[in-house]
Amino acid sequence: MKENKALKLMFFGAPGAGKGTQAEIAAERYSIPTISTGAILREAIAEKTELGKMAAGYVETGALVPDDLIVGIIRERLSEDDCKNGFILDGFPRTLAQARAFEETGIGLSLVIDIEVDDERIVERMSGRRVCAACGATYHTKYNPTADGVHCDECGGELTCRRDDDPEVVRHRLETYHEQTEPLRAFYEEKGILRVVIGQEKLDDTTALTVDAIESYLRGE
Ligand code: AP5
Repeated sequence: MKENKALKLMFFGAPGAGKGTQAEIAAERYSIPTISTGAILREAIAEKTELGKMAAGYVETGALVPDDLIVGIIRERLSEDDCKNGFILDGFPRTLAQARAFEETGIGLSLVIDIEVDDERIVERMSGRRVCAACGATYHTKYNPTADGVHCDECGGELTCRRDDDPEVVRHRLETYHEQTEPLRAFYEEKGILRVVIGQEKLDDTTALTVDAIESYLRGE
């Protein structure tokens, strides 16, 4: 485990930029939990809970789930014990209203890493994304394949495609991102906590840049 001053980190970027992948890697490296609003919603949809029933229509068409629902989920999750020494947010906040509501909780963020990838590359990436149906680990048919191409390397579960990775839905998710989420970049830039990582073709290269950004924050640079 690496030494860390309570790292309250958020990964920011377009759908498919690699936020979830980098969040998983950083969570292991710094021994802090990742909270992915997308993963929480997908689990609720699969289990057909009340939250899942409310969220399904939004997630499956690439629209954003209403702010109050999301803020409630985050507030509850961050009050759990495992978040006391830091946490990683993946996919939240996603609107200015969410960012302002999060500020009001007083929890705050220490670092925001913005992973930048072109829209064209994102559409290509999404078509190759595979997710383990059992443990949720993320792979890519070309950039991060599993050993046999059909089962998860971690748990042996079956690999599946996310329903919202359909190209038409991906295009809508990108539009939603540019309209509603991208303005948050300026919000965090003004606070002086934003660092930009240019997403690389090779996953390991993006990881190296991300770790550099986190380490330089931890050194106080
Ligand atoms: P969410 O699950 O958060 O989806 P997203 O933000 O659209 O991001 P993704 O999970 O698609 O991509 P990612 O950036 O994590 O990329 P990944 O690492 O997987 O949200 C889903 C939906 O839930 C939303 O559309 C919305 O409806 C709802 N929602 C969630 N949060 C909400 C909120 N706060 N408010 C309202 N609604 C909300 O990588 C993508 C692929 O590329 C993978 O196959 C990976 O292996 C590969 N890859 C990663 N890095 C590289 C690399 N460097 N080189 C090559 N391939 C790479």
